[in-house]
Amino acid sequence: MTTGSWLVADLLAGLLATAGWLGAGATSIIGRRRLTAGLALLALLATVTRVVTVVALTRAGWWFAAEKVLIAGPLTLAALVGLVLRRRVAFLFAGYATGAGLLVTVLDGYPVSAGVGLLAVAGVAAASAITLRGPAPRSSRAAAVTAIAALVVGTGLAAAPGAPPAVHHDHAVAAPGVGEPTKRFTLTAAAGADGVWAFNGQVPGPEINALVGDVIEVTLRNRDIGRGVTLHWHGYDVPNSQDGVPGVTQEAVLPGQEFVYRFRADQAGTYWYHTHSASDIGVRKGLYGVLVVRAGPVAGVDIAVPVHTLAGRLVPVPATSVKPGTSVRLRLINTDSDPHRYALSGAPFRVVAIDGVDLRGPASLVDTAVGIAAGGRYDLAFTGPAVLQVDGRTVWGTGEAATDSWPVLDPLRYGEAAPVPWSRFDRSFTLVLDRGLDLRGLLPRYAHTVNGAADPDIPVQVVRSGEIVKFTVVNRSLVVHPWHLHGHHVLVLSRDGRAASGTPLWLDSFDVRPGEVWEVAFVADNPGMWANHCHNLPHAEAGMMMHLLVD
Ligand code: C2O
Ligand code: CU
Repeated sequence: MTTGSWLVADLLAGLLATAGWLGAGATSIIGRRRLTAGLALLALLATVTRVVTVVALTRAGWWFAAEKVLIAGPLTLAALVGLVLRRRVAFLFAGYATGAGLLVTVLDGYPVSAGVGLLAVAGVAAASAITLRGPAPRSSRAAAVTAIAALVVGTGLAAAPGAPPAVHHDHAVAAPGVGEPTKRFTLTAAAGADGVWAFNGQVPGPEINALVGDVIEVTLRNRDIGRGVTLHWHGYDVPNSQDGVPGVTQEAVLPGQEFVYRFRADQAGTYWYHTHSASDIGVRKGLYGVLVVRAGPVAGVDIAVPVHTLAGRLVPVPATSVKPGTSVRLRLINTDSDPHRYALSGAPFRVVAIDGVDLRGPASLVDTAVGIAAGGRYDLAFTGPAVLQVDGRTVWGTGEAATDSWPVLDPLRYGEAAPVPWSRFDRSFTLVLDRGLDLRGLLPRYAHTVNGAADPDIPVQVVRSGEIVKFTVVNRSLVVHPWHLHGHHVLVLSRDGRAASGTPLWLDSFDVRPGEVWEVAFVADNPGMWANHCHNLPHAEAGMMMHLLVD
C-alpha cells in the first residue's frame, strides 16, 4: 500500500470510529441496546485499525503521523479509559475525543503544536460538559473548568508569534546588460468577448522561438486586464528582474501600461511563458504561450504541443503532415494545473529532454505513457508518423489507439546514471505540504499550506549565492502538488527514500503525489528573490506559495 492510501485509510477509519462512538452514545440514551452494541463494536474495530494505519504512517515518515501519535493518540487513550470505567457518557466522550483528533489532522496537521493540542482538549471537555449537565452536574462542572483552562492556555500558545514575518520583496537585482536584441516580440494582453484572455488575440499566444545566442526582447502590453499581467518564463532561468512575478520582481502591468523583458537565449530547450498576475485565472483563461530555444536550425519536424484546457475543452493543436521516415521532435508542454497522461502510438520513441534539459542515454520506448506535471515539459523524438493522445483523446496525428493500459514511464529509472555532483549540502529545508485552517488573513480560509503556514506567512528561505541547497518535499495531503522553483533547476536525488537511478533529472516542475517524499538539490547560483510554489495555480493562490532569497 502506498503512503497516500494509508493516509486515506487512516482518515476513513477515524471517521468511522467517530461516527460509531457518537452513534453508540446517542442510541444508548434512547435505550436501543442492540444497536448501541453494534455501533460500539464498529467503533472499536475502526480504532484498532487506526493503530495499524498510524504505525504504517509513522514508518513512512514522522511528518505523516506526528499529530496522530501526539494528539489523537492520547485522546483515544482517554476515551478508552472512560469506556473501561463505564462512565455515563463514555461513548459520547469517545466520539468527541476521536473526532477532535481527526479535526486536528484535517485543520492543522504538521507540525504539532501544544496550543492546538490544548484546543482539542478544550473542545472535548466543553462537549462533555454540555452532555453531562443533566445526568452528572458535578462532572459537568469539572469538564467545563477543564475546557476553559485548556481554551485559555491553548489560544495563548496558538496565537503566540511563531514564524517570523515575511521578508519584504525589495531585493531587486539590476538586470545585467545583455546587448542589443536580435529577436523582438510584442505581446498585447486583452480580454475577449467569450471570457477568453489572450495575447495578440490568440490562444496560445504567439510562439517565441530563438536560437542560442539570440537576445530576446518582449514588450508586454496590457489593454484591459484589470487584474494586471506579467510574463513569467516558466523553466527558463532568467535573471531575477526579468522573472515576471508581480510584487516580487516587478509591479503588475496594469491596463494601458507596458513592460519590456530582455534576456539572452543561452539555454536550448522547451519552455513556456504565462502571466504571473492573478495567475490561476489568467493562465486558465488563455494568457500563456510557448518559448523554444534551439541550438541550431530545425531538422525534420520539430514542434511544440502545448496542452491546455480552455472552458473544459483541450485547445486544438495544429495538424502537421509527417511523411513516413521523417524524424520528429514533439515538445509536450502541460500548461494546465493538473497532471496529464500522454501516449504516443505508432512509433517507438525516446524521451530526449525533460523540463528543457537533455537526458543521458534515453532508451527507446514502446507502449509506454508519460505523465507530465503541471508546468512540466517532455520532448519526445521518433520517426514519424505517429499519434499522440492526451488522457485518451487524440491531439496530434490521426487515428485512435488503445493506450489506457500502458504503464507510465518513471523518469527516475530511465536513461543512464551519472554520479550526483555534490556530497554535502550547505542548507537543507523541509517543505511539508498539506491543507489547514488559516486564520491570519481577514477571513478564515481552508488553505493549502507549507509547514502549517500559508502565503504570505510562510518564512522566506534565505540562502547565500553559490550554496548547495537541499529540499525535502513531503506531501501529506490527499491531492498532488506539482512543485515549481523559479530561477533554478533542481536535481532529483530520491523519491520515497529510493535514490534516483536513471539519467540526472534536472527539473523545474515535479509532481509530489499524496504520501510522497522527494529529495532534490540545486546550486543557488541565480541571485534574487524567487517564487517557490505549487504549480496547481489555484493551490498557489490558496496559500501554497513561498519565496527563496538567494542573497
Ligand atoms: Cu509557471 Cu511561478 O510559475
Ligand atoms: Cu498544490
